[in-house]
Amino acid sequence: MLDAALMTPFQLPIVRNLAELRARVRGWRAEGERVGLVPTMGALHEGHLSLVRRAKETAGRVAASIFVNPTQFAPGEDFAAYPRDESRDAELLASVGCDLLYAPPTEAIYPEGFATTVAVSGVSAELEGAHRPTHFAGVATVVAKLLIQAEPDLAVFGEKDYQQLLVIRRMARDLDLPVEIVGAPTVREQDGLARSSRNAYLSEDERVLAGRLNLVLAAMAGALSAGVDVAEAEAAARQALKDIGIEEVDYIEARGAEDLRPLGPGPVQAAARVLAAIRVGKTRLIDNMAVD
Ligand code: PAJ
Repeated sequence: MLDAALMTPFQLPIVRNLAELRARVRGWRAEGERVGLVPTMGALHEGHLSLVRRAKETAGRVAASIFVNPTQFAPGEDFAAYPRDESRDAELLASVGCDLLYAPPTEAIYPEGFATTVAVSGVSAELEGAHRPTHFAGVATVVAKLLIQAEPDLAVFGEKDYQQLLVIRRMARDLDLPVEIVGAPTVREQDGLARSSRNAYLSEDERVLAGRLNLVLAAMAGALSAGVDVAEAEAAARQALKDIGIEEVDYIEARGAEDLRPLGPGPVQAAARVLAAIRVGKTRLIDNMAVD
């Protein structure tokens, strides 16, 4: 059965069915290895590769998955246009020591008659959830499925998608999935723009504007840690975005770092995070930072 795996020039096995994935993971565990999983939608960049490296720190074997998950895109979002280049992605994964690529066809995730949804209330509801109401149920469902399929000891997710990380943590805890959910820091471009597959959609001018969002978030986080009132810091950040020429702001807010509860009035009292979503041209960008 294992011979069915395709090998890239860098000898990264590409597995497309559940039986083979489980056989390989169970084989590793039988050899005494800890197993890490890094779920992705492909179009890989340094941010994704940093998750593989992070997984490698504490797991002897690391699998990555690539599945552009239709259920987390709303009608009119970029599912069809989402960039796909499996052989390039496989080479990048091999170059950072990834041991296996799981690239299931749609029917391996959503077989005929699939009727189950994993929905995480509370932490899913606001921010991204308010603007993309079906998004996190799609994410939680596919990640639950990938974790159950791959049976990893740990799975690594980026803080870049901070709310997603908290949704997945909650889901894994609530369902007693026997996996450690690890968060990894955001990898940024030189000007601080968070690396994202969607940055490829930006024109040259839009790219310059996009690079300012992280500066506004950093200033906001700095003001909050210096004791500025939450509502005041939020208003100042909105104004700063407007002054720069970023007019379409879905949200820019400070929230509790553990559960995204609203903060204030008054200065920040406990661990907090600033989070924002903006639109630059047709591209929607999200970013967030810790308040130290
Ligand atoms: P995708 O956008 O491909 O991201 C895969 C993982 O890479 C996520 O955990 C994301 O937070 C992380 N990531 C993206 N950009 C990053 C950056 N600049 N620095 C660090 N990590 C970064 O997120 C998804 O896919 C999907 O929702 C998925 C979890 C795979 C479920 O379909």
